[in-house]
Amino acid sequence: MYKEDKNKKSQFGLTAFTEKLDHITPKAKAMLINHFGDKIVKRDLEQGVVYYYTQMLGDSLQAAFNSSRMNPVEMNKLLGQELKTRSIHTQFVLNSGGNTNLYLSSKVNTSLRKPFQKEFITAAFESPNTYFFKEMRLIIITSLLLIIITIGCFYYTVSTLLSQHKLAELKESFINNMTHELNTPIASIKITAEALKAFKHTPDTQLEYLNIIAHQANKLETLTDSILNTKRINHRTGKDPVLVDLNDLVVNAIRDLKPQIDDGHAVIGYEFPNSPICVPGDAESLGNILLNLIDNALKYNLKDAVVNIALKKSSDYAEISISDNGIGIPDEYHESIFERFFRVPQGNLHDVKGFGLGLSYVYEVIQQHHGEIRVVNNAPSGSTFTVKLPL
Ligand SMILES: Nc1ncnc2c1ncn2[C@@H]1O[C@H](COP(=O)(O)OP(=O)(O)OP(=O)(O)O)[C@@H](O)[C@H]1O
Ligand SMILES: [Mg+2]
Repeated sequence: MYKEDKNKKSQFGLTAFTEKLDHITPKAKAMLINHFGDKIVKRDLEQGVVYYYTQMLGDSLQAAFNSSRMNPVEMNKLLGQELKTRSIHTQFVLNSGGNTNLYLSSKVNTSLRKPFQKEFITAAFESPNTYFFKEMRLIIITSLLLIIITIGCFYYTVSTLLSQHKLAELKESFINNMTHELNTPIASIKITAEALKAFKHTPDTQLEYLNIIAHQANKLETLTDSILNTKRINHRTGKDPVLVDLNDLVVNAIRDLKPQIDDGHAVIGYEFPNSPICVPGDAESLGNILLNLIDNALKYNLKDAVVNIALKKSSDYAEISISDNGIGIPDEYHESIFERFFRVPQGNLHDVKGFGLGLSYVYEVIQQHHGEIRVVNNAPSGSTFTVKLPL
């Protein structure tokens, strides 16, 4: 039946048994199976031996199954490594619970086997927006800086262009006015002088012609004076201040402007004080302030001008106000009128001649006297200039 190899030692175990089973004849194999099936298995079943076999197998399977369940520590490590290889540097928590501030991944089944196939795991990350913002912050900050610098440069360029444009306009208007104002007396002097030279005149006509020349020369002098006034101002106010009676200055200014007042059929109202009001300062510059302000009040008027002048005194200040019923000054120009060469745009109308220097001179003188000037609209039309000078 089965020849035992005498040289081999007797062996036990399932592998040895299976090996040996291959060497026996089919008949012997059948006998053996019948013997086991009929006798041993039957006996083992009767005696409950099979129960122990299967229980052992079940227990070892259970142990293997349990040990193959997800290990959170291991999973944490693996996910961390995986994110690192993809250069994603962000914090995460596995199965964070109900923290809604975090961004949750979709649920992943940790096992396909029963009874754990319903065991899910989720990873919670910081919000993707925050993550992307953090990752890109350097780029964002640099871009913002660049944008701010570009806007700054743009603003600077535009404002430079605009001021250049404004300056060019002022220059052009100044030259136009200047040419006009200078040309008239020069042409008049030239023609009169030529007439004097060309013909024989009686002493009377000669005197008349010479008077014309002198008058035009005076006009030219007034013109140059008005331009140079701003230059002279510093020398004048540098002197020791003397007490100046403002009432005298107003009366003198009205007297000096008599030709213009009569010419324009203007009415001047003057509310003079009961007692003299004196301020320390330079009489000539302060007188020029009044001349400029009253001159403007007469000039910028379409109808017969009515100019009201009031001189008052408070505890610290002397106050002179000059109101007119003229064309008025739009609110947006209330500050610019005190700039050099500034004239309120009048479209193409250049009826009123001027250089835009008068008020800048006025402003300078008032500053030197530590006073202040402001302009408000007068009702129903015109403007009111108020000058305050410390007593
Ligand atoms: N009383 C006023 N009513 C209306 N507009 C005025 C008045 N005073 C000044 N303005 C405006 O302010 C501008 C500046 O006045 P400013 O006296 O400095 O110059 P100007 O009168 O034009 O020339 P000038 O140098 O000969 O005085 C004027 O061109 C005018 O548009
Ligand atoms: Mg003026």
